[in-house]
Amino acid sequence: MRYTADKNRYKEMMYNRCGNSGLLLPAVSLGLWHNFGHVDHYDTAREVLFTAFDHGITHFDLANNYGPPPGSAEENFGKILRNDLSAYRDEMIISTKAGYLMWDGPYGEWGSRKYLLASLNQSLKRMGLEYVDIFYSHRFDPDTPIEETMGALATAVHQGKALYVGISNYDAETTRKAAEILESLGTPCLIHQPKYSMLERWVEKGLLDVLEEKGIGCITYSPLAQGLLTDKYLNGIPENSRAAKPHGFLRKSAITDDLIRMLRKLNNMAKDRGQSLAQMALSWVLKDPRITSVLVGARYKEQLLDSLQCLEKTGFSTDELEVIDSYLAG
Ligand SMILES: NC(=O)c1ccc[n+]([C@@H]2O[C@H](COP(=O)([O-])OP(=O)(O)OC[C@H]3O[C@@H](n4cnc5c(N)ncnc54)[C@H](OP(=O)(O)O)[C@@H]3O)[C@@H](O)[C@H]2O)c1
Repeated sequence: MRYTADKNRYKEMMYNRCGNSGLLLPAVSLGLWHNFGHVDHYDTAREVLFTAFDHGITHFDLANNYGPPPGSAEENFGKILRNDLSAYRDEMIISTKAGYLMWDGPYGEWGSRKYLLASLNQSLKRMGLEYVDIFYSHRFDPDTPIEETMGALATAVHQGKALYVGISNYDAETTRKAAEILESLGTPCLIHQPKYSMLERWVEKGLLDVLEEKGIGCITYSPLAQGLLTDKYLNGIPENSRAAKPHGFLRKSAITDDLIRMLRKLNNMAKDRGQSLAQMALSWVLKDPRITSVLVGARYKEQLLDSLQCLEKTGFSTDELEVIDSYLAG
């Protein structure tokens, strides 16, 4: 049956300004790194997308290599967009990226102008789009002049193939440099996409300060540490979970006894706050006003519905934050 969006979809979501730009992003965005490839269930993926849009999630994040196989998340997303969501294209912010290995030979990864612009063309084709809203350099390339990488991003905007540009996984000092080059080219850096969660806090050591100073938004990926910051691993590794899958980057060996002990303490604290551990982990990221959006993944619509409730309680007392820090310190 053809999808019609819920007419109440904008009632509950919180929208945050992305840095100093004119763009508002939902406080919770949906990423398609996992669960949208050809190895996944198309109908379930479709249901997750509809649930997201029905709850005010307007931002969908992709990359050339998402799948598996690489490219298949863009293909599936394009199919769903074409069949069900085309009427809503102007209500959506769609991003893609290039930086990691995508095709054979010397032009299939990193940060050259050749690779980035060819990859963007391929992404547009796979998704059936004329333009993406945000095009990212997925990682810094130490062997390509940063002026060339940023110049390619600016070209994407000038060609009308991207409305805004962003960078991902760049450290604080390289971000400052990238931002200055993009500014000089008249295509300011809209957004940075770093990994950030209770278990991965590098952005607190300088990056967030640079983003604030430069007026750049911040959308944080893997805010649930790929599912570790939920209650799913507290009593073993469930069969269907990401850690049990043969592909991907979450290995069973990451789930140690020490980690489980810490997660149990966090889980009890979440219960005291009236939240699930997933909700508390997302609220914790969103407590910092420099964070524009948390970029979550979801295998089922139920997970997304659970995560969305993080918006009901993003505040933490000083005591709570200190206790969390003490748990994280081990
Ligand atoms: N820029 C980059 O380099 C980069 C890198 C990685 C990711 N990203 C972006 O960030 C997005 C999110 O990353 P991520 O998927 O690692 O995020 P995440 O939100 O940390 O993890 C998502 C996983 O957590 C589990 N989950 C989600 N909600 C849950 C809930 N309420 N209760 C229990 N379990 C729940 C599910 O795992 P199970 O499948 O085990 O149930 C789900 O697949 C990606 O899709 C991508 O767009 C960007």
